[in-house]
Amino acid sequence: MNVLERLRKVIAAAAPEGVDRAAFARAVRPAGDPRHGDYQANGCMAAGKALGRPPRELALELARTLDLEPLAASPEPAGPGFLNIRLHDSFLARSMIALVDDARLGLEPPAELQTIVIDFSSPNVAKPMHVGHLRSTIIGDSLARIMTALGHRVIRDNHLGDWGSQFGMILWGWKTARDEAAYAADPVAELARLYRLAQERARAGDTAAVEAARAETARLHAGDPENRSLWKQFMPHALKALATVYDRLGVRFDVQLGESFYDDQLADIVRRLTDRGMAVESDGAIVVFVQGFEAPMIIRKSDGAFTYATTDLATIAYRMSEWQPQHILYVVDHRQGDHFKQLFEVARKWGFDQVQFDHVAFGTILGSDRRPFKTRDGDVVGLESLLDEAVARARQVVDENSPELDPEERQRVAEVVGLGAVKYADLSQNRISDYVFDWGKMLAMNGNTATYLQYAYARIQSIFRKGGESAPEIRSNPPAIVLDHPAERGLAIRLLRLPEVLELAAEDRKPNILTDHLFDLANAFSTFFEGCPVLKAESPERRRSRLVLCDLTARTLKNGLEMLGIDVVDRM
Ligand code: ARG
Repeated sequence: MNVLERLRKVIAAAAPEGVDRAAFARAVRPAGDPRHGDYQANGCMAAGKALGRPPRELALELARTLDLEPLAASPEPAGPGFLNIRLHDSFLARSMIALVDDARLGLEPPAELQTIVIDFSSPNVAKPMHVGHLRSTIIGDSLARIMTALGHRVIRDNHLGDWGSQFGMILWGWKTARDEAAYAADPVAELARLYRLAQERARAGDTAAVEAARAETARLHAGDPENRSLWKQFMPHALKALATVYDRLGVRFDVQLGESFYDDQLADIVRRLTDRGMAVESDGAIVVFVQGFEAPMIIRKSDGAFTYATTDLATIAYRMSEWQPQHILYVVDHRQGDHFKQLFEVARKWGFDQVQFDHVAFGTILGSDRRPFKTRDGDVVGLESLLDEAVARARQVVDENSPELDPEERQRVAEVVGLGAVKYADLSQNRISDYVFDWGKMLAMNGNTATYLQYAYARIQSIFRKGGESAPEIRSNPPAIVLDHPAERGLAIRLLRLPEVLELAAEDRKPNILTDHLFDLANAFSTFFEGCPVLKAESPERRRSRLVLCDLTARTLKNGLEMLGIDVVDRM
């Protein structure tokens, strides 16, 4: 059950006449300080202002009339107009038993099933994946997992950049400087070398090379047989290299429709927009003027070439006709903000005004010097070598902490801990901000890290190993739940919150809402474990009640981490 949602519904229904009900409902929140209760309703403050009445008077009135049973008794008015809500212990205890039997840990089917397209990862192919691709890939994957868990229909679409100018650069390199033996041995490495060569030439101001590469792109787009056939030859290698990284990260897609897929639709898109009078000629180009933007959106350049924006418009038309989504999310670097604002505006004017577009923007990964993260030689950091390093560093941590495990198992644990650390370090940031990539911090056993959560999970598994009664045994015959120690109650409250946290994370498209909650849960578990002996509890009933709380904590951690794309291990 989503307790927050339940409370909001009841409280919204009781909102005083003339008050914005939705805002009144939104003002119900989990309490910041447990001493004041479990939830608080702060809507009387704004309502008082709107109605010209003292907020405290409204709060007192509401406290008298609100019926929150069977969840909680009447709320307590506090301060200038707040209401504090404390859930009944009996309700909490019953809820714990309901969770024992519930594989979905309290998640109910969505009130309204939505179809959500998530455009994420979407790298420009034929150059190696680097650290810049990490954020879109794992934030998008996590959002897809969360929204799927909530019961929505999610379409994961990898909008590959497989048709852009980088191919012209590679084609130019191929024709002027290819090393066939190197290509035969490692095609992707050779293509990457050619790409870098073209880049270096451009940087060195070699305009002839730049022009030649551009001409290769144009020839590819115009259907030149040689360039098309080379493109067809290069693509499978590039895709295979990408697939290796996705496999390792545990990321999958429902469709991988790259820019090339839309190529033969672009002329038609331009024609339709021109026919509608939305697109006009300007200096030889075809453009769409959008209010509020200085420069118009170019959909056909004066040399006849279509643009990134034209492709994005074709992509929207395709997605709408194929899946009729209610939401399309673009998990893309914040620097493309203007592109998306303009794109969404044009799409709405074009008639796609029933769907909600959302640019899920994120900041940059920084090095310890607070500049974009680079290797020591100033290169962008390759994604594969980054993951390898994460695992190697995790192996050191595992070697130190768990010498009793055999080397093979330690390596397996290191893989899970290393990848988890990298993902979690990213997902636990508010995605809008830049963050500093810091190995020491992300692998710390204490603090807001995957390692800490994975360790809490493993610790619970070890309690069960020592206790002799397995988790399934406890589940099949659960005891009455006792919550009279504040640490037991504190843990139960958090176990109950998973559904509302997932709902909030999905609404804001922010996985860090989930990481914060899991960290909070692990801390509550730690307090519980220190204050409440489990295996040495004072009575067998108490011991079994505490074992239920342990089991629910482990299941919630595992489930929550899974929604971040992170695994757990039984021992570490
Ligand atoms: N390939 C683009 C890049 O690397 C990102 C594409 C994002 N998705 C989209 N539909 N524009 O910058």
